Amino acid sequence: MPVSEEVLSKKATTVMPENPRQTDFQLVRVKSTWCRIKKEEAICNSEDKITISQAKIGKSVSDIGISWTIEAPISFCYKVVETCSLLDPANSTLLFGHIIDPQQLEMAINREREQRRFIVMDEIVDEYYGSKVRKYFEANNVHYKILSLPTTEETKSMDLVLSILQEVHNFGIDRREEPIIAIGGGVCLDIVGLAASLYRRRTPYIRVPTTLLAYVDASVGAKNGVNFLQCKNKLGGYTPPVATFLDRSFIQTIPRRHISNGLGEILKMALMKHKGLFDLLKSHGKYMLDTKFQSQNGLVNHGDAALKTTRLAIETMLEELAPNLWEDDLDRLVDFGHLISPELEMKVLPSLMHGEAVNIDMAFMTYVAYERGLLTTEEKTDIIQCMKGLELPVWHEDCNWYLIKKALVERLKHCGGQMRMPLPTGLGMAEIFNDISEDTLERAYKLWASECKTAVEEDFPIH
Ligand SMILES: NC(=O)c1ccc[n+]([C@@H]2O[C@H](COP(=O)([O-])OP(=O)(O)OC[C@H]3O[C@@H](n4cnc5c(N)ncnc54)[C@H](O)[C@@H]3O)[C@@H](O)[C@H]2O)c1
Repeated sequence: MPVSEEVLSKKATTVMPENPRQTDFQLVRVKSTWCRIKKEEAICNSEDKITISQAKIGKSVSDIGISWTIEAPISFCYKVVETCSLLDPANSTLLFGHIIDPQQLEMAINREREQRRFIVMDEIVDEYYGSKVRKYFEANNVHYKILSLPTTEETKSMDLVLSILQEVHNFGIDRREEPIIAIGGGVCLDIVGLAASLYRRRTPYIRVPTTLLAYVDASVGAKNGVNFLQCKNKLGGYTPPVATFLDRSFIQTIPRRHISNGLGEILKMALMKHKGLFDLLKSHGKYMLDTKFQSQNGLVNHGDAALKTTRLAIETMLEELAPNLWEDDLDRLVDFGHLISPELEMKVLPSLMHGEAVNIDMAFMTYVAYERGLLTTEEKTDIIQCMKGLELPVWHEDCNWYLIKKALVERLKHCGGQMRMPLPTGLGMAEIFNDISEDTLERAYKLWASECKTAVEEDFPIH
């Protein structure tokens, strides 16, 4: 039935209150009760303990009713700790390193009840490090349960989250004092982070990354998530862990290809904001691949390339993440390499690793920057050579023109109708662009294909 014009005009009318009377309140707790006081009102002198909240309540009264506006600032505090010998029973970091307040720390160490911990571990990591982890908890008299799971991109789903939650519930944890511990690659950390954020609405958790990619990226921010309906990380949230404990020695057992995978994310930060990091990757990339980021030097030796590289990667990442933890600002340099790669990664699953897909995206975007006149020929060559030196793929047959366009349409949908495309404007500097034309993209694609296409394949027609 056609909607009448009268109904339409009614629908379109928004009733605006006339002359609303606005009062702003702050919140004060006296003894145990919170109450509102008008912003300009003085807080009365009292013997009682008074707490003033940062929260505000605004009240607006008009001829059509009343509304309250609530401003409730929530801040997060979490620690990223680099340590060595995390699994040495004498190192208490894994048990207590997340506690910031000295008084709380003392209480936790001296508590009479036995310590309990629920640990979720990637099953391959369990094969390598499981016995050390068990010894650690046994030596520290901790009652523990280790849930060893196949945490892969294919199993990164809500089903796995629910099975973790079932086990957490069966084990029973004290939400205040017994953080869940996740030990594994980015997939494991993302799944456990989501499970912890759902259990009793927010249960503290600790991340122990065991791959290079998780070390420099997946474990330093707030995000968690799982794949859903064939879409990458479609379900998830922004609940940071209470702490991340970094120990580079885990990285020694990951295959060489996985080191390259992590180097892809490090290169992202280098290209976006740190020329020095780019130079480190160019000069020492092969050495770091060969030595799997292990070095005989202790944490104090700043001359060490692997140490410098991971620290710069983490610090540049934290600079970009901390002021925008919930990604309210959609202009994010850390999105470089993440415009096309989610579509590509899911399409070819499991043939490309995350950092590899990111690198293919970055290689294409390097050509976009070049075609836009942001990079010189030498800089473009330098970047592609560096990628190849890090043994990262710079081309993939499935990253064709059709996929690129589809991915960018998705990007527009999720970024408020703007492309917000981070592009390098030199080595170690970048800006966000909203006006890259289809013509520029097409020219970039053709040049990229002609210079980077590796295998002998059919030509990809530009539709
Ligand atoms: N939350 C975030 O901010 C964020 C950021 C970047 C990436 N991610 C996510 O991270 C995931 C990729 O992480 P990843 O690259 O670590 O992959 P991964 O977790 O799949 O690990 C890769 C493989 O390495 C194995 N492995 C892990 N540690 C090992 C070790 N020490 N020795 C031997 N084998 C080991 C795992 O069993 C797995 O087979 C993606 O799902 C991505 O979405 C999340």
